[in-house]
Amino acid sequence: MNRSGQLNFALIGCGAIALQNHFPGLALCPETRLLAVCDTDPARLEAARRCTGATVASTRFEDVVTRDDVHAVIIATPNVTHAPVALTAIQHGKHVLCEKPLAMNAGEAWSMARAAEQAGVRHMTAFTYRFVPAMRYLVHRVRQGDLGQPYHFRACRLQDWGTRPLGWRQRRDLAGTGELGDMLSHRLDFGHLLMGPVRRLTAHWRRWHEFRGNQPNELDEWVGVLGDFANGATGVWESSKLATGRNDSWRSPDTVELNGSHATFLYETREWNRLWIGRPGGQQLECLEVPREFWTWPGSPRDPAQGDPLVTFRYDQIWEFVQAIREQRPCAVTFHDGARVQQVMDAIVRSAETHQWVDLPAWNHTS
Ligand SMILES: NC(=O)c1ccc[n+]([C@@H]2O[C@H](COP(=O)([O-])OP(=O)(O)OC[C@H]3O[C@@H](n4cnc5c(N)ncnc54)[C@H](O)[C@@H]3O)[C@@H](O)[C@H]2O)c1
Repeated sequence: MNRSGQLNFALIGCGAIALQNHFPGLALCPETRLLAVCDTDPARLEAARRCTGATVASTRFEDVVTRDDVHAVIIATPNVTHAPVALTAIQHGKHVLCEKPLAMNAGEAWSMARAAEQAGVRHMTAFTYRFVPAMRYLVHRVRQGDLGQPYHFRACRLQDWGTRPLGWRQRRDLAGTGELGDMLSHRLDFGHLLMGPVRRLTAHWRRWHEFRGNQPNELDEWVGVLGDFANGATGVWESSKLATGRNDSWRSPDTVELNGSHATFLYETREWNRLWIGRPGGQQLECLEVPREFWTWPGSPRDPAQGDPLVTFRYDQIWEFVQAIREQRPCAVTFHDGARVQQVMDAIVRSAETHQWVDLPAWNHTS
C-alpha cells in the first residue's frame, strides 16, 4: 500500500477467470488500482491492457511481481505456474491471491503457505464458491448446531463439456489433474468447511476421450471419492465433465447435501439465495430463504440486485482479500486451506492409481 492508502495490483494471467471475476471484483474496491497485467500470450496481454487500462504490461511475470509499486498479485494462470509465480511474488513482499488448485501437489502447496507466513504477507486461495450467499448461510447453520450429529456429506458437480478441446486443462504437465483439480477441488473445500478434515478415503477416476481437438487428453474427466471425516460423518463426492445435456457453465448442477440427526440441508449453487431443509419425520424438504445479511460478504459494496447474482457473488472474493490486507489479518480462505485440499487431492490420486484406501496424515485431521 502506498502512503495515500492506495493498493496497486498486478494480474498474472489474463484469461477467462481473470477478466470475468478478478478484474470486475477489483473495480468495486475503492482505492485499489490494477497497475500491471501479465500474460505470456501477447495478443491476450494487449487485449487485457486495453480493457483494464493497466499502465504496465509484460509477458514475463518476473518483470511485474518484483516492482516496488506493485503491492498485491492475483495469479490466474495454468496450475503449473502458480507456485513459481507465488513464491517470487512472496519473496518480493507482495500479498498473493492465487487461483485453485493452489499447486501441483501438496508439498508445493505447503511450501507456498510457509513462505507467505514467513514473509508476513496476506495469502488467499480462490475457493470462490465459499462466497455464494447460500453456502455462507449453510456454514452458519451448521456452525450453530442445526445439523445435529453429522451423518453424511454428499457433493455432486455435473457438467457437459462434450468432446471439446480443453487446452492446458488436458495436459498433465500444465494442469496436474483434470476434473479433480478443476472442479472437485472446490467441493473438497466444501467438505472441509462444513465437516472438517478428512480421515481416510478411496477414489476412482476415468477418462473416455484420449484426444480432444486432435491433442492427447491425458487427464481424468470424471472422479468419484468415498471417505470418512474425522468428525465421524461419511463423505461422497462425484464430479464429471461428461454429464450430457446438463449444461457447461456455472448453471449446471452443483449440489451439497448434509444429513444429520437434527436436519438435512440441501445446497445448490444455482439457488444462490435459498437452501432446502428436511426435519426429523418430515416428508419433503422445505425451502429456507437466505437472510439478506448473507447476500453479500460483510462490508462489500456490491449491490446484489445489480447484474447476474450467479456471477457477481464472485466479486466479494477480492473484496475480502483487499480488506484482509488493509486490516492486516488473515484472509477468510488462506493458502493453508488450499494446501489442505491439495493434501486430499494427492490422496485421491494415490487411491485412484493403487485402488486402495488411503489414510490422511494425522496432522491433517487434528490441526
Ligand atoms: N476459482 C474459480 O472458480 C476458477 C474458475 C476458473 C478457473 N480457475 C483457475 O484459474 C486458473 C486460470 O484458468 P482460466 O480458465 O482463466 O484459464 P485460461 O486459459 O482462460 O487463462 C490462463 C491465462 O494464463 C496465461 N498464461 C499461461 N502461462 C502463463 C505464465 N507463465 N505467465 C503469465 N500468463 C500465463 C495464458 O496465456 C492465458 O491467457 C486455473 O488455475 C484455473 O483452475 C478458477
